[in-house]
Amino acid sequence: MAYSTLLLLWQLSLAFAVSVTICFLAFLFTLPSAYNPYHPDLIEEDDFTAEDKKKTESGYGYFSKHRTTNQTLKTETSVQVVVLGDIGRSPRMQYHALSIARHGGRVYLVGCQESDVHPGVLANRLISIVPIRPLPTWLGTSSKPLFPIIAPLKALWQAWALYQALGYRTRPTKWMLVQNPPAIPTLLVAHFICFFRNTSLIIDWHNFGSSLLALRLSPTHPIVRLSFHYERFFAKGATAHFAVTAAMARVLKKDYNAQAVTLHDRPSADFQPLTAERRKRFLQRLPETKEYAQDLETGAWKLIVSSTSWTADEDFSLLLDALVSYSSACNSNPSKRLPKILAIITGKGPLKEHYLFRIRALN
Ligand SMILES: *[C@@H]1O[C@H](CO)[C@@H](O)[C@H](O)[C@H]1NC(C)=O
Ligand SMILES: *[C@@H]1O[C@H](CO)[C@@H](O)[C@H](O)[C@H]1NC(C)=O
Repeated sequence: MAYSTLLLLWQLSLAFAVSVTICFLAFLFTLPSAYNPYHPDLIEEDDFTAEDKKKTESGYGYFSKHRTTNQTLKTETSVQVVVLGDIGRSPRMQYHALSIARHGGRVYLVGCQESDVHPGVLANRLISIVPIRPLPTWLGTSSKPLFPIIAPLKALWQAWALYQALGYRTRPTKWMLVQNPPAIPTLLVAHFICFFRNTSLIIDWHNFGSSLLALRLSPTHPIVRLSFHYERFFAKGATAHFAVTAAMARVLKKDYNAQAVTLHDRPSADFQPLTAERRKRFLQRLPETKEYAQDLETGAWKLIVSSTSWTADEDFSLLLDALVSYSSACNSNPSKRLPKILAIITGKGPLKEHYLFRIRALN
């Protein structure tokens, strides 16, 4: 090789080594700060407005009871509650945030802020909402042929947005409670942040990322198997686990080697049965039931209300098929006088149009 070529190679590798070192140093010096129990979050009198002091939901009651002589509250527990999705449509994570705050924990609720958030969360001064930067619209497409290209780009964008929110836009916390799925990239970013911020990770299992992916691809697809191992690997590193059902806790133990505590979904205390009189008035007022209020009262019609997220993992065809068989049972046994059914389905989601089309076709 000519001397000049060698010189060029040498210069190129030198330049490369220098840039790698600079990037690495920049990364080291801008690492997010770590949690230290001797510098807890302090809540002060000034954090509450005059309006807040009149309301119990603001957490002022807890504050006035537990503050120290110099009028500050040292929070023993601090938690980042993380959902890589819309906060308003994640009731479970909002309830987690509310329960932690009610017991005097400082909460950073990290997620996308799209629909309305629970009023109790907004009112509570111990809870701060930290919005994740939303996905650019061109990455939001759900077209199946583009999935292999869009999905990794989307994951990269989300990883970066989540990293920013968790690492730089919240103070370091003792705990991080993260919703799974989506597992990619949430668990990876969460572990990374927890490692550098001295935070302990808790995973709240609503489902398995790999089984959701299997609905989209196929159970034996290599990406699905890879994502199962990814999820299992990161599950092992967490400090604790919550599961929505006992069955899910069993699967976690068997397949993921993770010991989970079951926390069933429960409606909040805001949801209370109506008295007979109020129910009657409500049915007469609601546009969807107004026409049938009388029949519902007498029992000639029955009302079914169901909410769904219109996604592949919530198989709506189960209810639809049941309604179809009920309808044919009514038609074949007119003498039995089975009650008619008014079904109200609420929710937004990707498969809504598909099912509306099927329902129209049934008519
Ligand atoms: C990390 O957190 C633990 C408690 O969660 C604490 O005992 C320890 O001192 C912390 N480490 C540092 C370096 O602050
Ligand atoms: C109040 O006391 C705590 C320790 O109990 C201290 O960390 C904090 O800085 C004090 N705040 C003020 C405003 O003096």
